[in-house]
Amino acid sequence: MTKKVALITGANKGIGLETARQLAEQDVTVLVGARDEGRGEEAARVLREEGADARFVQIDVTDAASIDRAAAWIDSEYGLLDILVNNAGSATISRERTLPSGTSLEDMRAVYDINVFGLVAVTNAMLPLLRRAPAARIVNVSSEVGSIGSQTSETSPLSGMPPSAQYPSSKAAVDMLTAMYAKELSDTAIKVNAANPGFTATDFNDHRGFRTAAQGAEPSVHLATLPDDGPSGILWGHLWTTEGDGDGGYGRLPW
Ligand SMILES: NC(=O)c1ccc[n+]([C@@H]2O[C@H](COP(=O)([O-])OP(=O)(O)OC[C@H]3O[C@@H](n4cnc5c(N)ncnc54)[C@H](OP(=O)(O)O)[C@@H]3O)[C@@H](O)[C@H]2O)c1
Repeated sequence: MTKKVALITGANKGIGLETARQLAEQDVTVLVGARDEGRGEEAARVLREEGADARFVQIDVTDAASIDRAAAWIDSEYGLLDILVNNAGSATISRERTLPSGTSLEDMRAVYDINVFGLVAVTNAMLPLLRRAPAARIVNVSSEVGSIGSQTSETSPLSGMPPSAQYPSSKAAVDMLTAMYAKELSDTAIKVNAANPGFTATDFNDHRGFRTAAQGAEPSVHLATLPDDGPSGILWGHLWTTEGDGDGGYGRLPW
């Protein structure tokens, strides 16, 4: 059987790198998407040393020319794409933790450029390749902080977190985009779902998360390898609860 081909954006470190590693362990060819050539080549080299079929692809999700080049290269090398993991993301460019009332439009736009507009640009550029695969999977890496249901529930640990504008609202947009792409593609074999890694220790949060990057990758890998009777158009992943140690395992989250 031909190996499946997966593109993971922002795969040079953190959850993206672990997603590439775990997909490679399932005999998938992994295209390590990274905006920086040095960091991307190094990540692909490390994965190859571990036995993975891994290749670096330069892709800055805010740069249309780099997205087009990546799609053209995948087309010429493989002719299709089985899995797209829209993983690249940012919480803030200014790194200022502010309340919604203090948020700069500059930071808001920069975060949306990566998390929202970048996701649409990459998905639309890759869709012709995904349509050529027998049953492609699109995974949009979201977050529980973008779940309006969780943020407004008194029984969720998220209700106690300080409000902020740019990142949670960008992930709420990712959730809606997931639902809309799933709706558009509902008469195809392509499944589109959003993944919640849970609070994961990466550079993203100065390693304050309580889950490992390998654990954070598990929801993306699960959704990237769903069987034909699996769901499409859901937010799925780690469930953070107020009970016990807070670990509610895996399942579907409210939008
Ligand atoms: N960590 C958590 O607790 C957590 C929880 C929920 C959801 N998430 C989501 O999980 C995803 C991965 O986060 P992480 O924790 O692994 O963070 P991370 O370690 O900071 O990794 C983020 C990745 O995104 C890349 N990236 C940023 N801007 C990009 C751009 N314009 N084009 C291409 N790549 C770009 C980064 O590349 P550079 O190395 O070049 O900067 C890096 O590879 C994000 O979507 C994040 O929102 C994380």
